[in-house]
Amino acid sequence: MNYSDILMAHFKHPKNQGEMQDASGVGEVGNPVCGDMMKIYIKVEKDKDGDDYIKDVKFQTLGCAAAIASTSMLTEMVKGIKLKDALKITREQIAEKLGGLPKEKIHCSILATEGLKKAIAQYRGETIEKTEEEKEVEGEHC
Ligand code: FES
Repeated sequence: MNYSDILMAHFKHPKNQGEMQDASGVGEVGNPVCGDMMKIYIKVEKDKDGDDYIKDVKFQTLGCAAAIASTSMLTEMVKGIKLKDALKITREQIAEKLGGLPKEKIHCSILATEGLKKAIAQYRGETIEKTEEEKEVEGEHC
């Protein structure tokens, strides 16, 4: 597999990996393409404007190198920002920051963005069974 040096660095030394005991929200997502799993924990607090922001974030996964690296990168991108801004981060932006993802591995980054969406939804007391992106990759293959 042709992975960039940045991606390999995040895979070998993932940032923010582990469990969070006092999470404000937890998002669990399964990849419909390969069956791999992701759990994302967020700690939410109010910033000086009174807006919710991500004070801390952690993840656990049973996924491939691309999934681990994508989620590691996402956690670095969302730490310290408002929830509404964290929700705007796309899989394309993550892939770009990782120096690109091989085409057949693009679906792996879904675990990161959709796990985060579900964690934020849980914090807000909402339920998402399946996000639009999850439905979108259902027909893809590894
Ligand atoms: Fe399953 Fe990448 S997340 S193959």
